Amino acid sequence: MKLSLLTLLSLLPLIPAKLLLDYDATRGDPPTKLGTIEMESTRGHREFTNTNALSIKPGKDSTGQPALHFHRDKGNIRAEVRALKGEIEDGKTYYIGYEFAMADVQESLVVWQFKTYNPTDQTTANIPLSLEVKRNKLNLHYQRNRSSTRQSQWAVTPEPNAVNSVVLGIRTAATEDDGWVELYWNGEQQVLGDEKVKRLAAATNPGQSEPKFGAYRGEEIDVDTFVYRVRIGEELGDLGDGFGKGVGNSDGYDGGDGGDCDDDSSDVNSSNDDGSDDGSDDGSDDGSDDGSDDGSDDGGDDGSDDGGDDGGDDDGSDC
Ligand SMILES: *[C@@H]1O[C@H](CO)[C@@H](O)[C@H](O)[C@H]1NC(C)=O
Ligand SMILES: *[C@@H]1O[C@H](CO)[C@@H](O)[C@H](O)[C@H]1NC(C)=O
Repeated sequence: MKLSLLTLLSLLPLIPAKLLLDYDATRGDPPTKLGTIEMESTRGHREFTNTNALSIKPGKDSTGQPALHFHRDKGNIRAEVRALKGEIEDGKTYYIGYEFAMADVQESLVVWQFKTYNPTDQTTANIPLSLEVKRNKLNLHYQRNRSSTRQSQWAVTPEPNAVNSVVLGIRTAATEDDGWVELYWNGEQQVLGDEKVKRLAAATNPGQSEPKFGAYRGEEIDVDTFVYRVRIGEELGDLGDGFGKGVGNSDGYDGGDGGDCDDDSSDVNSSNDDGSDDGSDDGSDDGSDDGSDDGSDDGGDDGSDDGGDDGGDDDGSDC
Protein backbone atom coordinates (compact mmCIF):
# COMPACT_ATOMS: atom_id res chain seq x y z
CA MET A 1 0.00 0.00 0.00
CA LYS A 2 1.27 3.41 -0.92
CA LEU A 3 1.65 5.86 1.97
CA SER A 4 -0.26 9.04 1.37
CA LEU A 5 0.96 12.35 2.67
CA LEU A 6 -1.90 12.28 5.12
CA THR A 7 -0.78 8.93 6.47
CA LEU A 8 2.75 10.22 6.88
CA LEU A 9 1.51 13.29 8.73
CA SER A 10 -0.51 11.15 11.09
CA LEU A 11 2.65 9.28 12.01
CA LEU A 12 4.53 12.43 12.98
CA PRO A 13 3.35 12.60 16.59
CA LEU A 14 4.94 9.20 17.19
CA ILE A 15 8.38 10.56 16.44
CA PRO A 16 10.04 11.47 19.75
CA ALA A 17 10.18 15.19 20.36
CA LYS A 18 13.51 16.65 19.52
CA LEU A 19 15.71 17.49 22.45
CA LEU A 20 18.10 20.38 22.10
CA LEU A 21 20.46 18.66 24.50
CA ASP A 22 20.52 15.16 25.97
CA TYR A 23 23.31 14.31 28.40
CA ASP A 24 23.23 11.00 30.27
CA ALA A 25 26.10 9.87 32.48
CA THR A 26 24.89 6.27 32.49
CA ARG A 27 25.77 6.15 28.78
CA GLY A 28 29.26 7.37 29.63
CA ASP A 29 28.69 10.61 27.75
CA PRO A 30 31.79 12.82 27.82
CA PRO A 31 31.42 16.26 29.43
CA THR A 32 31.79 17.87 26.02
CA LYS A 33 28.41 16.38 25.13
CA LEU A 34 26.96 18.63 27.82
CA GLY A 35 28.85 21.68 26.63
CA THR A 36 31.94 23.81 27.05
CA ILE A 37 34.14 23.07 30.04
CA GLU A 38 34.92 26.06 32.20
CA MET A 39 37.31 25.58 35.09
CA GLU A 40 38.90 28.31 37.16
CA SER A 41 41.36 27.77 40.01
CA THR A 42 41.70 31.26 41.42
CA ARG A 43 39.99 34.40 40.12
CA GLY A 44 40.76 34.93 36.47
CA HIS A 45 42.90 31.81 36.15
CA ARG A 46 41.25 29.46 33.70
CA GLU A 47 42.34 25.83 33.72
CA PHE A 48 42.08 23.64 30.66
CA THR A 49 43.20 20.25 31.88
CA ASN A 50 41.93 18.09 34.72
CA THR A 51 44.18 17.88 37.77
CA ASN A 52 43.72 16.22 41.14
CA ALA A 53 42.73 19.62 42.48
CA LEU A 54 40.22 20.58 39.80
CA SER A 55 38.43 18.30 37.37
CA ILE A 56 35.27 17.46 35.45
CA LYS A 57 35.14 13.84 34.39
CA PRO A 58 32.84 10.85 34.02
CA GLY A 59 32.93 8.87 37.26
CA LYS A 60 30.72 7.57 40.03
CA ASP A 61 29.00 9.16 42.99
CA SER A 62 29.41 7.93 46.59
CA THR A 63 26.89 5.14 45.98
CA GLY A 64 28.57 3.94 42.79
CA GLN A 65 26.01 5.44 40.44
CA PRO A 66 27.52 6.74 37.18
CA ALA A 67 27.73 10.52 37.16
CA LEU A 68 29.68 13.35 35.69
CA HIS A 69 31.90 14.27 38.64
CA PHE A 70 32.82 17.89 39.27
CA HIS A 71 35.66 18.15 41.80
CA ARG A 72 37.34 21.18 43.30
CA ASP A 73 39.92 21.19 46.05
CA LYS A 74 39.34 23.88 48.65
CA GLY A 75 40.14 27.30 47.21
CA ASN A 76 39.30 26.52 43.58
CA ILE A 77 36.27 28.47 42.44
CA ARG A 78 34.81 27.00 39.27
CA ALA A 79 34.14 23.62 37.70
CA GLU A 80 31.24 24.15 35.33
CA VAL A 81 29.96 23.12 31.93
CA ARG A 82 28.28 25.80 29.84
CA ALA A 83 25.55 24.36 27.65
CA LEU A 84 24.07 25.55 24.36
CA LYS A 85 26.70 28.24 24.03
CA GLY A 86 25.48 30.81 21.50
CA GLU A 87 22.31 28.82 20.83
CA ILE A 88 19.75 30.23 23.26
CA GLU A 89 17.34 32.46 21.39
CA ASP A 90 15.28 35.34 22.71
CA GLY A 91 11.49 35.03 22.84
CA LYS A 92 11.53 31.25 23.12
CA THR A 93 10.65 28.74 25.83
CA TYR A 94 13.15 26.24 27.19
CA TYR A 95 12.66 23.46 29.71
CA ILE A 96 15.92 22.47 31.35
CA GLY A 97 15.88 19.15 33.21
CA TYR A 98 18.78 18.60 35.56
CA GLU A 99 19.54 15.67 37.89
CA PHE A 100 22.33 16.38 40.32
CA ALA A 101 23.77 15.77 43.78
CA MET A 102 26.15 17.69 45.99
CA ALA A 103 28.38 15.96 48.51
CA ASP A 104 28.15 18.90 50.89
CA VAL A 105 25.52 21.60 51.25
CA GLN A 106 28.16 24.30 51.23
CA GLU A 107 27.33 27.96 51.76
CA SER A 108 27.34 29.99 48.52
CA LEU A 109 27.78 26.93 46.31
CA VAL A 110 26.09 27.54 42.96
CA VAL A 111 25.07 24.32 41.19
CA TRP A 112 23.36 25.98 38.25
CA GLN A 113 23.16 29.41 36.72
CA PHE A 114 21.55 31.16 33.79
CA LYS A 115 24.28 33.65 33.03
CA THR A 116 24.26 36.71 30.82
CA TYR A 117 27.23 36.99 28.48
CA ASN A 118 26.35 39.85 26.22
CA PRO A 119 24.23 42.29 28.22
CA THR A 120 22.10 44.67 26.22
CA ASP A 121 23.35 47.41 28.51
CA GLN A 122 25.04 47.70 31.85
CA THR A 123 21.84 47.94 33.86
CA THR A 124 20.92 44.32 33.15
CA ALA A 125 21.51 41.37 35.43
CA ASN A 126 24.75 39.42 35.34
CA ILE A 127 23.14 36.20 36.59
CA PRO A 128 19.37 36.43 36.05
CA LEU A 129 18.71 32.98 37.54
CA SER A 130 20.69 30.61 39.74
CA LEU A 131 20.38 27.67 42.08
CA GLU A 132 22.59 28.39 45.06
CA VAL A 133 23.04 27.50 48.69
CA LYS A 134 22.33 30.09 51.34
CA ARG A 135 22.02 29.14 55.01
CA ASN A 136 21.84 25.41 54.30
CA LYS A 137 19.07 25.82 51.76
CA LEU A 138 19.16 25.54 48.03
CA ASN A 139 17.53 28.64 46.58
CA LEU A 140 16.24 29.67 43.21
CA HIS A 141 17.59 33.18 42.95
CA TYR A 142 16.42 35.82 40.52
CA GLN A 143 18.37 38.98 39.79
CA ARG A 144 16.12 41.59 38.19
CA ASN A 145 18.80 44.00 37.10
CA ARG A 146 22.33 45.11 37.85
CA SER A 147 21.16 47.28 40.74
CA SER A 148 19.42 44.47 42.58
CA THR A 149 21.15 41.47 44.12
CA ARG A 150 20.10 37.91 43.53
CA GLN A 151 16.95 37.36 45.55
CA SER A 152 15.49 34.08 46.74
CA GLN A 153 12.21 33.07 45.10
CA TRP A 154 12.09 29.54 46.50
CA ALA A 155 14.16 27.40 48.82
CA VAL A 156 14.43 23.78 49.87
CA THR A 157 16.54 21.95 52.45
CA PRO A 158 18.64 19.50 50.45
CA GLU A 159 20.47 16.51 51.86
CA PRO A 160 24.10 15.83 51.09
CA ASN A 161 24.51 13.26 48.31
CA ALA A 162 20.78 13.09 47.55
CA VAL A 163 20.01 12.85 43.85
CA ASN A 164 17.61 15.63 43.07
CA SER A 165 15.72 16.37 39.92
CA VAL A 166 14.97 19.93 38.96
CA VAL A 167 13.29 21.32 35.87
CA LEU A 168 13.58 25.01 35.06
CA GLY A 169 11.10 26.35 32.55
CA ILE A 170 12.34 29.61 31.10
CA ARG A 171 10.73 32.00 28.66
CA THR A 172 13.63 34.06 27.37
CA ALA A 173 12.99 37.79 27.29
CA ALA A 174 14.72 40.98 28.34
CA THR A 175 11.75 42.22 30.37
CA GLU A 176 9.37 40.88 32.98
CA ASP A 177 6.49 41.70 30.64
CA ASP A 178 7.52 38.87 28.34
CA GLY A 179 9.84 36.60 30.31
CA TRP A 180 9.13 34.08 33.06
CA VAL A 181 10.49 31.14 35.01
CA GLU A 182 8.88 27.96 36.34
CA LEU A 183 10.45 25.44 38.72
CA TYR A 184 9.75 21.73 39.24
CA TRP A 185 11.48 19.98 42.14
CA ASN A 186 11.52 16.19 42.15
CA GLY A 187 8.52 16.14 39.85
CA GLU A 188 6.37 18.70 41.64
CA GLN A 189 5.82 22.18 40.29
CA GLN A 190 6.78 24.76 42.92
CA VAL A 191 5.40 28.20 43.69
CA LEU A 192 7.75 31.14 43.47
CA GLY A 193 8.25 34.53 45.06
CA ASP A 194 6.18 36.50 47.53
CA GLU A 195 3.08 36.02 45.40
CA LYS A 196 3.60 32.23 45.35
CA VAL A 197 3.00 31.94 41.64
CA LYS A 198 3.75 28.94 39.46
CA ARG A 199 5.06 31.16 36.71
CA LEU A 200 7.16 34.06 37.95
CA ALA A 201 7.52 37.06 35.64
CA ALA A 202 11.25 37.49 35.11
CA ALA A 203 13.69 39.32 32.86
CA THR A 204 15.48 36.10 32.04
CA ASN A 205 17.46 37.11 29.01
CA PRO A 206 18.91 40.60 29.16
CA GLY A 207 21.55 39.68 26.59
CA GLN A 208 22.83 36.25 25.63
CA SER A 209 21.95 34.04 28.58
CA GLU A 210 23.09 30.44 28.82
CA PRO A 211 22.73 27.61 31.35
CA LYS A 212 25.75 26.40 33.33
CA PHE A 213 25.95 23.21 35.38
CA GLY A 214 28.37 22.01 38.04
CA ALA A 215 30.01 23.87 40.90
CA TYR A 216 30.81 27.51 41.33
CA ARG A 217 31.82 29.41 44.47
CA GLY A 218 31.53 28.03 48.00
CA GLU A 219 35.29 27.52 47.84
CA GLU A 220 35.95 27.20 51.59
CA ILE A 221 35.97 23.40 51.45
CA ASP A 222 36.67 20.61 48.95
CA VAL A 223 33.60 20.46 46.70
CA ASP A 224 32.17 17.50 44.81
CA THR A 225 29.01 17.69 42.74
CA PHE A 226 27.52 15.09 40.43
CA VAL A 227 25.45 15.45 37.28
CA TYR A 228 23.45 12.43 36.18
CA ARG A 229 21.29 13.72 33.36
CA VAL A 230 20.57 16.99 31.62
CA ARG A 231 17.86 17.35 29.04
CA ILE A 232 16.80 20.57 27.38
CA GLY A 233 13.70 20.86 25.23
CA GLU A 234 11.17 23.42 24.16
CA GLU A 235 8.28 21.81 26.04
CA LEU A 236 8.10 20.17 29.45
CA GLY A 237 6.84 16.98 27.78
CA ASP A 238 9.94 16.83 25.59
CA LEU A 239 12.02 15.85 28.59
CA GLY A 240 10.34 12.47 28.87
CA ASP A 241 8.25 10.68 31.45
CA GLY A 242 11.20 9.43 33.43
CA PHE A 243 12.44 12.92 33.96
CA GLY A 244 11.67 15.08 36.91
CA LYS A 245 9.96 12.39 38.95
CA GLY A 246 10.81 11.94 42.58
CA VAL A 247 14.26 10.52 42.47
CA GLY A 248 15.46 12.58 45.41
CA ASN A 249 15.40 11.74 49.08
CA SER A 250 15.62 15.25 50.39
CA ASP A 251 13.21 16.77 52.86
CA GLY A 252 11.31 18.16 49.95
CA TYR A 253 9.88 21.58 49.59
CA ASP A 254 9.76 23.21 52.96
CA GLY A 255 7.67 26.25 52.34
CA GLY A 256 10.40 28.31 50.88
CA ASP A 257 12.39 31.19 52.18
CA GLY A 258 11.62 33.15 49.09
CA GLY A 259 7.92 33.34 49.67
CA ASP A 260 7.74 33.45 53.41
CA CYS A 261 10.69 35.52 54.37
CA ASP A 262 11.17 39.04 53.25
CA ASP A 263 14.69 38.66 51.99
CA ASP A 264 13.97 41.00 49.16
CA SER A 265 13.67 44.31 50.88
CA SER A 266 16.93 43.95 52.69
CA ASP A 267 18.71 42.62 49.64
CA VAL A 268 17.61 45.51 47.50
CA ASN A 269 19.16 47.85 49.99
CA SER A 270 22.67 46.54 49.55
CA SER A 271 23.19 49.24 47.01
CA ASN A 272 26.96 49.43 47.24
CA ASP A 273 27.07 46.39 44.99
CA ASP A 274 26.21 48.36 41.94
CA GLY A 275 29.32 50.37 41.50
CA SER A 276 31.76 47.55 41.81
CA ASP A 277 29.67 45.22 39.68
CA ASP A 278 29.49 47.55 36.76
CA GLY A 279 33.07 48.55 36.87
CA SER A 280 34.59 45.16 36.76
CA ASP A 281 32.11 43.80 34.26
CA ASP A 282 32.30 46.46 31.67
CA GLY A 283 35.97 46.42 31.05
CA SER A 284 36.46 42.74 30.75
CA ASP A 285 33.25 41.98 28.93
CA ASP A 286 33.84 44.27 26.06
CA GLY A 287 37.46 43.61 25.41
CA SER A 288 38.01 39.94 25.62
CA ASP A 289 36.61 36.65 24.47
CA ASP A 290 34.67 34.09 26.42
CA GLY A 291 37.58 32.66 28.25
CA SER A 292 38.68 35.76 30.02
CA ASP A 293 35.21 37.23 30.25
CA ASP A 294 34.08 34.54 32.48
CA GLY A 295 36.72 34.76 35.07
CA SER A 296 36.75 38.47 35.44
CA ASP A 297 33.01 38.83 35.07
CA ASP A 298 32.14 36.57 37.86
CA GLY A 299 35.00 37.66 39.96
CA GLY A 300 33.91 41.24 40.09
CA ASP A 301 30.29 40.44 40.60
CA ASP A 302 30.42 37.68 43.01
CA GLY A 303 32.70 39.21 45.51
CA SER A 304 30.49 42.19 45.91
CA ASP A 305 27.18 40.42 45.43
CA ASP A 306 28.01 38.11 48.17
CA GLY A 307 28.53 40.80 50.71
CA GLY A 308 25.19 42.26 49.84
CA ASP A 309 23.40 38.96 49.83
CA ASP A 310 24.74 37.83 53.11
CA GLY A 311 24.16 41.14 54.75
CA GLY A 312 20.63 41.12 53.48
CA ASP A 313 20.03 37.60 54.61
CA ASP A 314 21.27 38.33 58.06
CA ASP A 315 19.23 41.45 58.36
CA GLY A 316 16.10 39.76 57.15
CA SER A 317 13.90 37.44 59.08
CA ASP A 318 15.55 34.29 60.28
CA CYS A 319 13.15 31.58 59.17
C1 LIG B 1 16.00 47.29 39.30
O1 LIG B 1 15.20 46.43 40.09
C2 LIG B 1 14.70 47.04 41.25
C3 LIG B 1 13.94 46.01 42.04
O2 LIG B 1 14.66 44.85 42.20
C4 LIG B 1 13.81 48.21 40.88
O3 LIG B 1 13.37 48.85 42.05
C5 LIG B 1 14.58 49.19 40.01
O4 LIG B 1 13.73 50.18 39.53
C6 LIG B 1 15.20 48.48 38.82
N1 LIG B 1 16.07 49.39 38.12
C7 LIG B 1 16.00 49.52 36.81
C8 LIG B 1 17.00 50.45 36.19
O5 LIG B 1 15.21 48.92 36.13
C1 LIG C 1 17.00 50.87 52.90
O1 LIG C 1 17.68 52.07 52.69
C2 LIG C 1 16.90 53.21 52.99
C3 LIG C 1 17.70 54.43 52.56
O2 LIG C 1 19.06 54.25 52.77
C4 LIG C 1 16.54 53.20 54.46
O3 LIG C 1 15.76 54.34 54.78
C5 LIG C 1 15.78 51.95 54.77
O4 LIG C 1 15.52 51.86 56.14
C6 LIG C 1 16.55 50.72 54.33
N1 LIG C 1 15.73 49.55 54.47
C7 LIG C 1 16.18 48.41 54.97
C8 LIG C 1 15.23 47.28 55.00
O5 LIG C 1 17.33 48.26 55.38
